[in-house]
Amino acid sequence: MKLKIDAARLTSEIDTLAAFSDAEAPAVTRIVFSPTDMKARSWLKGRCVESGLAVREDAIGNTFLRWVGSDAAAPAVGTGSHIDAIPNAGKYDGVVGVLGGLEAIRALQHSGFRPRHSMELVVFTAEEPTRFGIGCLGSRMLSGALPPDAARKLRDNEGAALDEVRQKAGIPGELESVRLSRDYYKAFVELHIEQGPLLERQCLPLGIVSSIAAPASLRMAVEGSGGHAGAVLMSERQDALCAAAELVLAVENAAHATKAADTVATVGVCDVFPGAVNSIPSRVRVSLDIRDTDLERRNAVVDEIEEAGRRIAAKRRVSIASEVVNADAPANCSKLVIEALSQACDTHNLKHISMVSRAYHDSLFMSHIAPTGMVFIPCRNGYSHRPDEYASPEDIARGTLVLAETLATLAG
Ligand code: GLV
Ligand code: MN
Ligand code: MN
Repeated sequence: MKLKIDAARLTSEIDTLAAFSDAEAPAVTRIVFSPTDMKARSWLKGRCVESGLAVREDAIGNTFLRWVGSDAAAPAVGTGSHIDAIPNAGKYDGVVGVLGGLEAIRALQHSGFRPRHSMELVVFTAEEPTRFGIGCLGSRMLSGALPPDAARKLRDNEGAALDEVRQKAGIPGELESVRLSRDYYKAFVELHIEQGPLLERQCLPLGIVSSIAAPASLRMAVEGSGGHAGAVLMSERQDALCAAAELVLAVENAAHATKAADTVATVGVCDVFPGAVNSIPSRVRVSLDIRDTDLERRNAVVDEIEEAGRRIAAKRRVSIASEVVNADAPANCSKLVIEALSQACDTHNLKHISMVSRAYHDSLFMSHIAPTGMVFIPCRNGYSHRPDEYASPEDIARGTLVLAETLATLAG
């Protein structure tokens, strides 16, 4: 089988997709179910249909693009990722796995390969938590980790219910129909940029993921007492932002205190009410992201942060409420997929290492229903979730080649 990846076409498609953005280039912002996201999806589906793939969309907007195999009833081999992008993001996160997946299928078609198992490219809805506060919305529902009733309770940042938002975006159907059975996929493999610096530092083209770290996310609300910034004396204040500032540092301390490099914690959202320079903040809402490769240690950090919230609330005479949005377990990648990936690297004389994914991915949830694996390519300086995120066409093409070879082994 002679596989030829068209790196120029892939680069140009990545650039085209990046232009569907609500931020000025080079930044990309593509929030799920926004008009821009819907236009990007429609362009992408067009590219897939041109390549003879059959389109199916589920009720949460996950999009399945199928190359039907000779044994159409056999479980499919899946690949894919996401195209939603956080505010002020770059153009490679998720996109490399989607457009690389499409290019891998085209390369296989072109080579004359005919799969026995169908191959399915999946574009997952809302891997990013930006709009509904929870990451991997599409894969979480598809795997059954987020039941429809819990999904119906989700609201976006403007308070609109998920059901209302998706239906307005033109995505009908019952959320009950989203879940896939354990025999739907024979295997699932996701290509992604590393989002960290290790491959680049070691001058290595590929990383095969052994496990995905466990993410958790919390929302905390600090309620104090507002008032006039000139008139209320310092001794009488219950400033919600000052309490939140202590909380933010407590989050950082909780992660440092484990002394493990694998523990990370971030406060990425801080809303101050009423947000006027001459008004004491009466209410602050923060969103937190806590991750670790070790589940127990991650849970202990979450507990410590909540305990710190209680201490700070008592000390500053404010109230601090905490809500766990998600607290997921880590995932181990499957031996079947790891071996197929490493064999594919060997076939093409490409060096690779085994590595942990510190970022989460839809594969975290795909691993609940299918043997799952991931392959990483380097990205410049390890930058991701920022506009200067960059992966070279050569690295993307190498990752796509290995993906194609792996899909062929799995679907053969
Ligand atoms: C995915 O974008 C993550 O935050 O790991
Ligand atoms: Mn991301
Ligand atoms: Mn991603």
